[in-house]
Amino acid sequence: MTLSRHILEPFEADSIVLGDALELLPRVPSKTVDLIVTDPPFAIDFRAQKMNYNRTGANVLEGYREVDGRDYAEFSIRWMEEAYRILAPSGSMYVFSGWNRLKDVLSAVDDAGFSTINHIIWKYQFGVFTRKKYVTSHYHIIFAVKNPGSYTFNKVEHYPEDVWTIKREYWKGRKKTPTKLPSDLVRKILSFSSNPGDLVLDPFLGSGTVAVVSKEMDRRFLGFELVSDYYEFARERLDLASCTGQA
Ligand SMILES: C[S@@+](CC[C@H](N)C(=O)[O-])C[C@H]1O[C@@H](n2cnc3c(N)ncnc32)[C@H](O)[C@@H]1O
Repeated sequence: MTLSRHILEPFEADSIVLGDALELLPRVPSKTVDLIVTDPPFAIDFRAQKMNYNRTGANVLEGYREVDGRDYAEFSIRWMEEAYRILAPSGSMYVFSGWNRLKDVLSAVDDAGFSTINHIIWKYQFGVFTRKKYVTSHYHIIFAVKNPGSYTFNKVEHYPEDVWTIKREYWKGRKKTPTKLPSDLVRKILSFSSNPGDLVLDPFLGSGTVAVVSKEMDRRFLGFELVSDYYEFARERLDLASCTGQA
């Protein structure tokens, strides 16, 4: 879908906004977004610097905004109902979740009206060392759509399996946020589930990877982030990113 200039008002395509997604999402016009890719806060006692796989804490931006576990079910349904409203009829959503709050995420996906197409496992390296339990080294990705009879799925691989082994990026000596998704992972999602010119939204931007990869792949983008240091970091990354028009 190619966006006309006014269709997203009060927002503009190819922009990111500092603010609370729960307040901003209701202002996005209905049926305007082609793809939502998001990694919401996870409601674990997340200590940003300690948990980072690259322990050079001084480079890790602090201030990551968490949601209390007791509020997670309500938080999830609130944003997902809006996600459903603003998605185009043929739109898709990819939501990341750790196992600890997965039940809330799965319930919210259903309750908001989505149809789940796949439950993908992302296997990564650098899980946090443990003494009395297995090291967590996977994440869940729920691929859901509004209309299972009509959604974008570009079969860019012949035999695309639902377990993805993709390495986290090692940003040696560079400023980073604690939960950055690898660009390759986002690129894979965009290749399968969007086309050039489509509008991609991430309501919980963090370091802005979804917006950056969207720009690189000639998609339009919109993103929200509550923490100003993360927002500024995402803006810096976006300024450096260039449109290549290809993956
Ligand atoms: C798991 S991180 C996203 C990481 C991102 N995918 C990346 O690649 O960097 C979730 C982000 O959501 C932000 N956040 C938490 N609550 C929010 C809210 N209500 N509105 C907007 N952003 C929020 C957090 O500050 C955090 O940066």
